[in-house]
Amino acid sequence: MMNGNKTTFFTLFGATGDLTYRKLIPALYNLHSLDYLDKGFKILAIGRRNYTQQEYYDILRPWCEKFVRTGFNERVFDGFLSRIEYVQMRFDEVEDYQVLVERFKECPKSQHLYYLAVASSYFDVIASNLVESGCTALANTKQCVIEKPFGTSFSTAQELNDTLLKFFCEEEIYRIDHYLGKEMIQNLLAIRSENPILTPLWNDQLIDSIVVRALEEVGVESRGQYYDHFGAIKDMVQNHLFQIVSLLLMKPSSNLDERIANQNEIIEHLELYHQSEDDVILGQYEANQAVSDSLKGYKDEEHVDPNSKTETFVSLRTRVNLEPYKNIKVILQTGKRTHMRSTEVIINFKGHGALPNQLIIKISPDEGVYLRMNIKKPGPSHDVETVMMEYCQSCVYENRLNTPEAYERLLKAAILLDRSLFTPWEMVSSSWRVVDEWLDFIKTHQVPLLMYPAKTYGPTKVMEHINEDLQ
Ligand code: BG6
Repeated sequence: MMNGNKTTFFTLFGATGDLTYRKLIPALYNLHSLDYLDKGFKILAIGRRNYTQQEYYDILRPWCEKFVRTGFNERVFDGFLSRIEYVQMRFDEVEDYQVLVERFKECPKSQHLYYLAVASSYFDVIASNLVESGCTALANTKQCVIEKPFGTSFSTAQELNDTLLKFFCEEEIYRIDHYLGKEMIQNLLAIRSENPILTPLWNDQLIDSIVVRALEEVGVESRGQYYDHFGAIKDMVQNHLFQIVSLLLMKPSSNLDERIANQNEIIEHLELYHQSEDDVILGQYEANQAVSDSLKGYKDEEHVDPNSKTETFVSLRTRVNLEPYKNIKVILQTGKRTHMRSTEVIINFKGHGALPNQLIIKISPDEGVYLRMNIKKPGPSHDVETVMMEYCQSCVYENRLNTPEAYERLLKAAILLDRSLFTPWEMVSSSWRVVDEWLDFIKTHQVPLLMYPAKTYGPTKVMEHINEDLQ
């Protein structure tokens, strides 16, 4: 139990959306089944559609059966449903909020968590209606939890932020970056600070390059419309990859403000390595009949402009222009429809003749830590071979069982008013400033968009870069 008998209204805007079904409801089910939710924890699921309670529950069932981590159980599911009320309303009409006001009046001075699982163009109207209708005035604590995308550039992000600040203060705004809820991303700082042998290695005298990559086998699926306006850099680099790099290189600190400042310092000092167009590889996937007839090219995906110039793959050779990291090449790579799904960090140490030592931190789908070392081959010869010392964390059943899903961890933190897993405005703003600069650079230098067949490792130039960087 979290805090005994506290009442919390988890008011979910966008309750009939994909994110709700796929991530939020299963995460809440997990928290419920682990007894983490107070008795007075209620979920007001808001949607426009005319569902009865039973119809909505029937929709939730298969998603829970499929996606809950803690195992689906009828009795637990019934208990979970008893917390959920489907509320049909139009969230852009302030008079519709009266139904919420009535609910909130039943338990005044409770915790109000407003989860905006809707497009960011609705943040403004929802926030304003919550205030104008009197909903927020009935709260003891109020929180506005929002999903990305938070803006499309520094200036649009700032506009959005200024709008939200009219209704909520910074401490009440919880910006989700679901990567912060991932087990191995939480582990990055621990791996660094709890292993004193690593501390002296964390500099450009000993590290040659760091590769942070998030490859996905899937294409844009049903999100063509959104993705075509964003592309890989805004969709993945500006938020998730920057989080990883900054956690990896920041000065550790247990104080939240200090941690944010230190993380921010890393982001602010990110720049293209040579400031040349060779630092950037952009790609877009095309059909690959050799693998499967059903593998469409990006331009043929639903809701994508058939002449789209949006990148679905990017590889950026960057650096953090701060001592002691200035000469480390930081390669940021992400792509859709690549040959594999893998998010990982690879730290390549400098080599002296032998193959370089590598520390690999696997984030997903496998979780673990690996160290590549050179040893003498067993037997009479004196040849050296490279071996991997492996710790596969997710291979152990108990670890998988005990590891919360990213959303589960984030929702639990939000419910507990723990802001440490959410992105503060200063980090959003510095990330956009860096990305704006890189996008300008790409435009002015007319970096070409290279095609790559679906299910391959991006444009062929990527391998050339990797070979060069590992020289
Ligand atoms: C989201 C992006 O933020 O992260 C998606 O919008 C991407 O395009 C997803 O697929 C990747 O998340 P994960 O957890 O599968 O690595």
